[in-house]
Amino acid sequence: MRVLGIAGSPRRGGNTDLLLEELMKGAAGQGAVIKTIELRGLKFETCRHCDGCLKTGNCVVKDDMHDIYEELEQADIIVIASPVQFVGPTAQLKAMIDRCQCIWARKYVLKIPPLGDERARKGFFISVGGTKLKDMFEPSLAVIKTWFHILNVEYAGELLFKGIDEKGAIKEHPDALKQAYEAGQKLAVR
Ligand SMILES: Cc1cc2nc3c(=O)[nH]c(=O)nc-3n(C[C@H](O)[C@H](O)[C@H](O)COP(=O)(O)O)c2cc1C
Repeated sequence: MRVLGIAGSPRRGGNTDLLLEELMKGAAGQGAVIKTIELRGLKFETCRHCDGCLKTGNCVVKDDMHDIYEELEQADIIVIASPVQFVGPTAQLKAMIDRCQCIWARKYVLKIPPLGDERARKGFFISVGGTKLKDMFEPSLAVIKTWFHILNVEYAGELLFKGIDEKGAIKEHPDALKQAYEAGQKLAVR
């Protein structure tokens, strides 16, 4: 089983990175093959809406997004980690999601499997936010769930932590990292 983690925070070693790392350790402990992609380290454009993908299902822009398309196709489990930034996912993550318009085109225009095959895939979301506002994760959840739906990835759950702001603050939480590890274990069980 291949588990793909996508780190969407611009802050290296920050709270969502720590949670994602624990989740991936939990999955690896169950024998899963793990791979983490840090969006902040990649170079890719935002979607041009050139409609170039509508005929082929592939993006015409040649950049690091193509490594992500390949990893998405190979993954059985996809874990997205992003803090709340201005009430939604980070710009890095939203840019990646928008570049999946070619995957949308495969499904809705070309009527082919969006990730190349019909295998059952699962998706999981990790987020934190500095505030404790009611419904603060709703905009991100709407984006992430819609994206998983378009990819034919079944939504398998989330870990969301409010009031986590300083770098590393998640370590002070009584059991957040444990929850992440256990979520990884659970996801990787067939
Ligand atoms: C540009 C920016 C925008 C942010 N917007 C929000 C927000 O709308 N709501 C919130 O609760 N926290 C917001 N935060 C705080 C982060 O969610 C918080 O610091 C989080 O712990 C960062 O996670 P990370 O260490 O994984 O990057 C924002 C932080 C930044 C840098």
